[in-house]
Amino acid sequence: MAELEGLEFGKSDFVLLDEVTMEQFMENLKLRFEKGRIYTYIGEVVVSVNPYREMEIYGKDAIDAYRGRELYENPPHLYAVSDAAYKAMKRRAKDTCIVISGESGAGKTEASKYIMQYIAAITNPGQRAEVESVKNVLLKSNCVLEAFGNAKTNRNDNSSRFGKYMDINFNFNGDPTGGHINNYLLEKSRVVQQQEGERNFHSFYQLLRGGCEETLESLHLENDAALYTYTREGAATAVSSSDDRKLWDATSNNDRTSHKAVMSALEVIGFSKEEITSIYQILAAILLLGNVEFGSEGESVQILGQDTVNHISELTATDPDSVAKGLLFRTVATGGGEVIEKGHTEKDACFGRDAFAKALYERLFGWIVSRINSIIEVKNYNPVLHGKNTVIGVLDIYGFEIFDNNSFEQFCINYCNEKLQQLFIELILQQEQEEYQREGITWQHIDYFNNQIIVDLVEQQHKGILSILDEACLTVGKVTDTVCLDSMDTKLAQHPHYTSRKLSPTDKTMDFKKHFRIRHYAGDVTYSVEGFLDKNKDLLFQDFKRLMYNSSNPVLKEMWPDGQLSITEVTKRPLTAATLFKNSIVALVDKLACKEPYYVRCIKPNEMKSPVLFDDARCQHQVAYLGLLENVMVRRAGFAYRQQYPRFLQRYKMTCEYTWPNHLMATDREAVEAIITQHGFQGDVAYGQTKLFVRTPRTLFTLEQERNTLVPILVLFLQKVWRGALARLRCRRMRAIYTIMGCYKRYKVKAHFWEVERRFVSVRTMPDYGKSVEWPAPPAALAQFHSITTMLHRRWWARQIVKNIPPSDMLEVRAKVAALTSLSGERKDWGVGRAWERDYLSSVRDCPHTSAAFIRVSKELKNKDGYGQVVFSAFCRKMNRFNKSTDRALLVTDKFVYKLEPKKQYKVLKRFPLDSVSELSKPRRFLQTCCQPSVKCLFCFSQFTGLSVTSGADQMVALHTSSQDDVLLCLQQGELCPNQDRVGELVGTLVDHFMRTGGSCSGRLRGESTFRESLQLVIVPPSAEVAPAGADEAAPDDGEGGPAGRSAARAPGRRVVDAARRRVAQDAAVALETVSRKPDVALIRMHVENGIRKSLFPVKVCRSALQLHMRGKPKKVTVETKPGQNVADFKKSKDGFILLVPEK
Ligand SMILES: Nc1ncnc2c1ncn2[C@@H]1O[C@H](COP(=O)(O)OP(=O)(O)OP(=O)(O)O)[C@@H](O)[C@H]1O
Ligand SMILES: [Mg+2]
Repeated sequence: MAELEGLEFGKSDFVLLDEVTMEQFMENLKLRFEKGRIYTYIGEVVVSVNPYREMEIYGKDAIDAYRGRELYENPPHLYAVSDAAYKAMKRRAKDTCIVISGESGAGKTEASKYIMQYIAAITNPGQRAEVESVKNVLLKSNCVLEAFGNAKTNRNDNSSRFGKYMDINFNFNGDPTGGHINNYLLEKSRVVQQQEGERNFHSFYQLLRGGCEETLESLHLENDAALYTYTREGAATAVSSSDDRKLWDATSNNDRTSHKAVMSALEVIGFSKEEITSIYQILAAILLLGNVEFGSEGESVQILGQDTVNHISELTATDPDSVAKGLLFRTVATGGGEVIEKGHTEKDACFGRDAFAKALYERLFGWIVSRINSIIEVKNYNPVLHGKNTVIGVLDIYGFEIFDNNSFEQFCINYCNEKLQQLFIELILQQEQEEYQREGITWQHIDYFNNQIIVDLVEQQHKGILSILDEACLTVGKVTDTVCLDSMDTKLAQHPHYTSRKLSPTDKTMDFKKHFRIRHYAGDVTYSVEGFLDKNKDLLFQDFKRLMYNSSNPVLKEMWPDGQLSITEVTKRPLTAATLFKNSIVALVDKLACKEPYYVRCIKPNEMKSPVLFDDARCQHQVAYLGLLENVMVRRAGFAYRQQYPRFLQRYKMTCEYTWPNHLMATDREAVEAIITQHGFQGDVAYGQTKLFVRTPRTLFTLEQERNTLVPILVLFLQKVWRGALARLRCRRMRAIYTIMGCYKRYKVKAHFWEVERRFVSVRTMPDYGKSVEWPAPPAALAQFHSITTMLHRRWWARQIVKNIPPSDMLEVRAKVAALTSLSGERKDWGVGRAWERDYLSSVRDCPHTSAAFIRVSKELKNKDGYGQVVFSAFCRKMNRFNKSTDRALLVTDKFVYKLEPKKQYKVLKRFPLDSVSELSKPRRFLQTCCQPSVKCLFCFSQFTGLSVTSGADQMVALHTSSQDDVLLCLQQGELCPNQDRVGELVGTLVDHFMRTGGSCSGRLRGESTFRESLQLVIVPPSAEVAPAGADEAAPDDGEGGPAGRSAARAPGRRVVDAARRRVAQDAAVALETVSRKPDVALIRMHVENGIRKSLFPVKVCRSALQLHMRGKPKKVTVETKPGQNVADFKKSKDGFILLVPEK
């Protein structure tokens, strides 16, 4: 159905002939041959005529033109059929095979090479290295196998003398992953003898003509094929004419270039250097063996020329004596189990030598094939990973041949061709017609010659020629070829395809006792029975096998594994050559039969190897015996494609709206009909019982094309559905997870609530109000709830503690809380453990001598200045403005701070207001109102801005003022307790004072006061009238001890009360600290809503030197311990002052 050629080239498909007659067939074939169209179709079968010239139709352009195209889209070509086989393999994952048949010289081997070349070119577009190497080996193997398995015959200069079936394995992508070569019966008799005008295998001439001098020398060879018996016939030395000379030169050149090509191919395939050397050593040994001659002296036979034997032994890495012994004697096992050596006759020796040479070559060839197979076999194949391993097989076997003298080999070769013809008949003619009948398709039977009868003549059990041959070989005694011929004549006398001189005495083309004739499907062949039995027995003395097995060349040893058997072990008769061959051909046919076959039928146009001569008679003969005309008839009346309804429906159902995705018709056949009708192909199909038959490939191609456009859409659709299904599945799973998580979370929350309830249910009655109760770890979801509830509990707990503090102690607790907050734990000892007396100057116990005077002065001041209460009073050491330290008394009241002179009856030296501190953000000077005109007022226009203390045990305090004229003093202890810390008390009372009077203070200079003060406002209620609770179970006194009490009434249980108070203060402070780490928005808001103003009275706790200003100048005060110092005192230093403290 090719369409791209004009009619001047004839019909490109014989199916298109006007009439299917031999004349028209031949006319068309001849016309096309003459027009350079060597390929013509019969449907999918390619008929190829050997052009005997280089054709420009195999280039890259041609490959591109045929790649992926349908058969009828381009002119007929091998590439088209190769592509069809490849497509079938790839699309339908079907194993396919391309069977190339035709007689010797018809162009089978060339065709197989082009097919391989095409497959190699269209695969592995990704250029993957491993695939490329497989392809390379497959292609290069041709060159090697041709060198060792092909020879010049009288019919073909490059005749295949072995059968080759190559399987190429493909992966899921359609790239070759490996292969396997099966070789069939090498014509080994050619090694020792060739017909006139023929050559030995190419390899010998290539070595002798192409091998370099050193190589030949090392192989003990010379550069002249005529010197060796086995190559003498093909050496063509007798150059009589200039034409012969030219031919000889061309052949020599050819051999030389071929040798190079073979050497490089061997390397590319992967043969090691040693292996290549061994191959050529074996070839040389064979050539030398041929030159071994024997002479006899009486009974004994000798080898003429020991040198040759020595060379053979060197080349085969064996002992020369063993070689000589092997050639002259044979070891025979006697009946009694003894082993004797029997000398050969000269004839036996020659026979043994030749048998040895043939076997050497045959095994070498077999080994080369197996070595290539081991390299290209598919390795690490995993069907799960790599998908189905599909195969394309290419069969190129020796063609049918008729020589002047046809021997056992021709008999085997022609039998093989009969078998292949039988397969063709079965698949193309017989099965096809039977199928039409079976399927009920109206069919006019087409007669054809079935060659099964000839196949049976050869292979039938007991009656066939092979059986007769085998029988003769097994018969003990002197059974000769003639006896065997007699037996055949007797048994096959009635067979229409067998004859001999005895059966046709008038036929003088045959000799008595020598010839028999078989009427093959491709013509009559007269075989000479001479040598049949020997060749069938294929006898090789065991001595040679042992000799080779014992070779120190590992390659040789590997070729002869059967040589390890001793003579007494070799008992079982091996199968005969003919039986072995038959078995291998039967296996081959089975292998082909299970694949989808594609045929290339080769025709040899003339015997002259001429590119212009078209020998009508010869060609017609071939067309006839190949059954091509019958093929056309069957094809023309038949159908190109058939498929079972369900499979056809499955493949094309998407192309029809009634069948996609599923049809509602009664049967698949109806659905298929719907597809066909929708496309309008009714006229091109026939409906069988189980199959649909499609007449032309075009119909199928159209369906295929439509399918190809729909498949991507379907793939997308399926992907969409599948992805949706997956997403829904995932979604359901997620929802389930969330439900489970929700339930679990709810359970965890509830469990937490229950646990909190269980633990805290009785805290109200607990002595510590649940302080010791450990909070259960909250689940993550309740982290905030946990922090709020802990804080609430803390607050509640603090309230319980605080509300139990008696109002009389409230002032002290507040001061301690204020001190704790302000000092932030940076001052280790701040007097928390003792009762804070505040007004130490009026304490009789602390200042027994001066208290009376102070009480008097303070009363006067109270009356005069109208202050409410004393906030703090104590002796101190102060630096004056002349940088001298003096003893002073400090009195802090709720309105003024007084500096008193203790030595002058507490004369007021300075007074400055305390409560006038107001707007923090706007420090302002205020008018100092002096009580006495004599009092010098240094700070009259300044206000306190904060104070600094150290973190040590010293009693130093720096009161900062807004005028940068700070007051530096060191508190002095009274008599009662000389080591008492009063800094904490001063800080606490001052800060507390500022807070109570509406100011605010911060323990640090970092402005984080707001929250703390707010908390204080909460935890320190203004009216706390409940009696101290838990005083009884207060912690024991820490030993520091406090003053004995401010009044006698409070003396009893003083320590206990102090301890309780201390604990309460600490607890309150801890509560304050704990809660204040997280700002509480609600509290801040409350604070703001209450309109409490911020005022800063920061307390700075210095770790090293204390910083202050005096009269605007910066000063640094450090603390030093001085041995021998009795009381703390200031001393001037370079950049300020040093407080010298007594050593403890
Ligand atoms: N397509 C072709 N183009 C050019 N020359 C060809 C072609 N086919 C065959 N020939 C020529 O014909 C010769 C014989 O072809 P080939 O060796 O393929 O025959 P064959 O069928 O394999 O024979 P045999 O059965 O003896 O092996 C080739 O050496 C080549 O010169
Ligand atoms: Mg060939």
